Formats: sequence, C-alpha cells, structure tokens
Amino acid sequence: MNEKKTTSVCVVRGGADEKPYEENFEVPFEDGASVLDALTWIRSHKDSSLAFRYSCVSANACKECMVLVNDKVDYACTARLDPDGVKVGPLKNKRLIRDLVTDIVPPKERISDPN
Ligand code: FES
Repeated sequence: MNEKKTTSVCVVRGGADEKPYEENFEVPFEDGASVLDALTWIRSHKDSSLAFRYSCVSANACKECMVLVNDKVDYACTARLDPDGVKVGPLKNKRLIRDLVTDIVPPKERISDPN
C-alpha cells in the first residue's frame, strides 16, 4: 500500500494590530521539500489568504522569504520541512504587515515613511 505522507505546519498568523494566533495545517511531505513548498501548498489548497513573500526561490538572493522556522531566522525557500512538523512565524525584529510578511526594506531605501 502506498500511503501518502503528511506533516504539520503551525503558522503564526495575524495582522499588525491583532493578537497573533497559531493555525495548524496538515500538508503533504516529501524528502527535500522546503518550508516554502508547504506554504505555497497551503495557499493553493487550504487558505488563499495566507500572506508570505518570496521571489528568487532557493537562490538565496532576494531574502524576501526570511521567517522564523522553529524560532530561528531562516529562508523558507531553503529550510527543509521536518516529518515531525515545523513552526513558522514572522520575523520578530521587523514591523509586521500580516501573517509572515514583515517590512524588510532598509530605512535608507524607503521612499516614504509608512507611519
Ligand atoms: S525566495 Fe529568495 S531567498 Fe528565498
């Protein structure tokens, strides 16, 4: 019997003015799959409102996918999914926009002050 493997992804969610909450998703698991693979699967199959950012995918060039993976700063596109589950949250030292999206633009590159 060919049983499909799954793993759980706990995502810390919420908006800038909301109390953060954790939401658990059961996602397909394959060896070598990235945390970003799981997030895109969640957005496609479970909740299209899940906010996260990425651009280059595995080139380590854009740094847009930077999040906390099990409470450590990591790139979602290169961090591997764990068969025992993983927790993903927004960066803590950046202004939260929504869910996993934080304001990562360096102050000198900002066109105008967001406040
Ligand atoms: S998507 Fe660019 S570093 Fe991860």
